[in-house]
Amino acid sequence: KQKGWGAYDIILFFQNFWIVPIYLKATLSFQKHFQAKHNDILIVSLPKSGTTWLKVLAFATAKRSRFIPSQINNHPLHCSNPHTLVPFFEMDIYANNPNNIDPSNLPEPRMFGTHLPFPSLVSSIIHNNSNCKIIYICRSPFDTFISYWHFFNNILPPSAPTLPLNDALERYCEGVVPFGPFWSHILSYWKAGNDTPNKVLFMKYEDLKANTKFELKRMAQFLNYPFSEEEESGGVIDSIIELCSFGKMKEMEVNKSGKISLRSEVVNKYFFRNGETGDWVNYFSPQMTEKLSKVIEEKFGGSDTDLSVRM
Ligand code: A3P
Repeated sequence: KQKGWGAYDIILFFQNFWIVPIYLKATLSFQKHFQAKHNDILIVSLPKSGTTWLKVLAFATAKRSRFIPSQINNHPLHCSNPHTLVPFFEMDIYANNPNNIDPSNLPEPRMFGTHLPFPSLVSSIIHNNSNCKIIYICRSPFDTFISYWHFFNNILPPSAPTLPLNDALERYCEGVVPFGPFWSHILSYWKAGNDTPNKVLFMKYEDLKANTKFELKRMAQFLNYPFSEEEESGGVIDSIIELCSFGKMKEMEVNKSGKISLRSEVVNKYFFRNGETGDWVNYFSPQMTEKLSKVIEEKFGGSDTDLSVRM
């Protein structure tokens, strides 16, 4: 048990990761009850790594035969926040769930989100013979940290002081952050992606920004929803990219106002800040840069995650 992060007073170490107590019961409930189906799709990440973007891209891709991406005003993304369409296990479905989402009744392919580390997923997801798919998105710890810092300061009660950046970095570098340490989370999925490439696709926010079309095609292929040549030449991929773009998402009324139903402190607009890479340079002092670089080098030096070059 440790002092928490931002809005959360206390954070607990459980199953080798840090969790905010309000998500503990739901996590246990998920682990006890969830049964994967062969065509389930899971969007997995550390908070602030691009979860929302990946959710909308995967949703628009996997459901494109039912919802035409170019018809933006008729698309579910026009009137529902991405986290409503692709709910989290531990924060929505198995949390105190006033909407009574019954996962067995969700339309197929069912799509879920989670921030849980790989070893805390259930065996029907990991080991079944089914084709249930996991897409993981990883982002530079520098940008993730800054995005986190803004997010947690946003959800503080109005009377609470903002969390000083240096203090926040201290905690982050110690690994004390919800669903962290960030290095073990990332490495758990990195390894899973290497060991079982048909089960886990490891993606990077920076690659998605730099080459959205290529990465989207790679994801569609992995999910078994590949784009045909006719779709590509007919502009379907471009429509999905446009629909899911930061500008479009941010300007949708549903994402400008409203709250994620179960997490009353979280307003939809907090998921759309500036959506760029490299914003961390506007916040880090040389000492802070050295500190986080050192942790990254120490924790990822021996792996091939290529994080160190993404600062
Ligand atoms: P910034 O705070 O750096 O802007 P998550 O979805 O995991 O909570 O991550 C939120 C981060 O992803 C925020 O980063 C947010 O702006 C960015 N983001 C959200 N939607 C996006 C989109 N459609 N394209 C690119 N980035 C997006």
